Amino acid sequence: MRRPFIAANWKMQKTIGETEAFINAFLPMVKDINDVDILIAPPYTSLETASRLLKGSNVFLAAQNVYLEEKGAFTGEISPDMLIAVGCTHVIIGHSERRQYFGETDETVNKKIKLARNKGLKVILCIGETLEERESGKTFDILDTQLKGSLKDLPLDEITIAYEPVWAIGTGKTASDEQANEAHVHIRKWLAANKEGAEKVRIQYGGSVKPDNVKGLMSQPEIDGALVGGAALQPESFSELVKGARG
Ligand code: PGA
Repeated sequence: MRRPFIAANWKMQKTIGETEAFINAFLPMVKDINDVDILIAPPYTSLETASRLLKGSNVFLAAQNVYLEEKGAFTGEISPDMLIAVGCTHVIIGHSERRQYFGETDETVNKKIKLARNKGLKVILCIGETLEERESGKTFDILDTQLKGSLKDLPLDEITIAYEPVWAIGTGKTASDEQANEAHVHIRKWLAANKEGAEKVRIQYGGSVKPDNVKGLMSQPEIDGALVGGAALQPESFSELVKGARG
């Protein structure tokens, strides 16, 4: 049985003050939950504040991105060592917005995962098809290509996969429970065919997850958690989501 894993991706939202207000309200709401892994990924500028406030709690801290080099002349970038020093245990890599707006490819994603893992960060790897790809029947091919490229020469330990159909992100359109599970089944089959330890890997679903649809998604056998954007911006709805993920 894989432990449920619910993660908040705040994207480019929340100042330091807003981060503080969220965490102060959120922690008491989830303090007794010990059967779900909970994670928050604030923007870089809020990491230090979040790290201080989350210390000793049951909530993990992640960054939303990381660079693929250890250090050097890479203006504007952030290294794995910097994330670890500020208190991150996890990092999200390859989010579709990074792929779409910032030119990330499976190759850069692969380099980022390798360095992050070598440094000791746990990784949430995001994959997923666009609407056009789904409508032209290419979903599984796209997932295979992304998995193959992103996980090239990598073992699966300390990696969580987030299946996020691009057409469901921030659109209010969720994949149906069955549609999401079908993709998760496919992902797990690919992992089992190509890597060791596929059974242990948690696969999160992402794309318009809300308190009212989380239970249906989580009741699917291959859905182990969620990566949540919009509904994770308010402490009340994020805590409801976490509670909805309990068995
Ligand atoms: P959403 O975002 O929940 O707002 O659709 C999910 C994500 O991008 O991780």
